[in-house]
Amino acid sequence: MNGQRIPPRIAPSLLSADPLRIWEGLQSLAGEYDWIHLDIMDGHFVPNLSYGPALLKALRSALPEAVLDVHLMVEPPENFIDSFLRWKPDYLVVHQEATPHLHRVLQAIREGGSRPGVALNPGTCVEALDPILPFVDLVLVMSVNPGFGGQAFIPEVLSKTRTLCQRRAARGLGFLVEMDGGIGLSNVEEVVRSGCDVIVAGNAIFGEADPALTARLLRKKAREAGSGE
Ligand code: DX5
Ligand code: ZN
Repeated sequence: MNGQRIPPRIAPSLLSADPLRIWEGLQSLAGEYDWIHLDIMDGHFVPNLSYGPALLKALRSALPEAVLDVHLMVEPPENFIDSFLRWKPDYLVVHQEATPHLHRVLQAIREGGSRPGVALNPGTCVEALDPILPFVDLVLVMSVNPGFGGQAFIPEVLSKTRTLCQRRAARGLGFLVEMDGGIGLSNVEEVVRSGCDVIVAGNAIFGEADPALTARLLRKKAREAGSGE
C-alpha cells in the first residue's frame, strides 16, 4: 500500500435486502455504493442458511462491471469454491476457522481468477493470519459473530485492524482490510479511523426507509474519516 490509503469503500450486504426484491433493493441505492457484499451461509459453519452460486451468477450477468465481494461462511470452503469461481467474483473470501488447508484454498482461488480473501471471527486471534498474509488481497475482520444481519458491533475487534495495518506496512504487503457486522452511521468513522478500507453494512442501509440516503451518508462519513478530516 506504500502508506497511501484508498478512499474507503462501502459494500452493502444483500442479506438485509428484501429477499423477494433483491434487484429492487440494489436499485434503491441509486449507485451510492462501491462493492456488493454477498453472504453465503451453509447452516453448518454458521447457524443460518442464505443463498448459493445462482445469485452470484445472476448478479454477474446483470452487473458485469460491479465489484462482487463473496463472503463464504461454509465449511469446508474447498468443496464450494469452484461453483463460485465459475461466475467470476472479484473477491472470494473464506474463513480462517473453516479449513485446515487455508493456504491451498487461497492459492486455488487466485488460480481460479479471483482475488483471495480471508475472514476472521471475533474469537480468533489476528496472529492466526500471519503465515498467509502475503497470499491474500483482502482480510475481512468480523465485528459480529457470523450468521445474521442486524447484530450489535463488537468494538474490541478494532485493535485487530490496527495490528493488521501495522503488519501490512512492516511487511510491505498490499491487502485491503474489510470490516463486517453492526456498522452504521454511528460508528463508521471509528471503523475507518482504525484503518479499514472496506465497510460492509446490511441492516444500517436496507433497514432504513431511504437506503440511498443512508448509503450516501455512510460513504461521506467514511471518506471524511479516511482523509483525516
Ligand atoms: C453476517 C454477515 C454480514 C451481515 C452484516 O454473518 O457476514 O455481512 O449481513 O449485516 P449488518 O450490517 O446488519 O450487521
Ligand atoms: Zn458478510
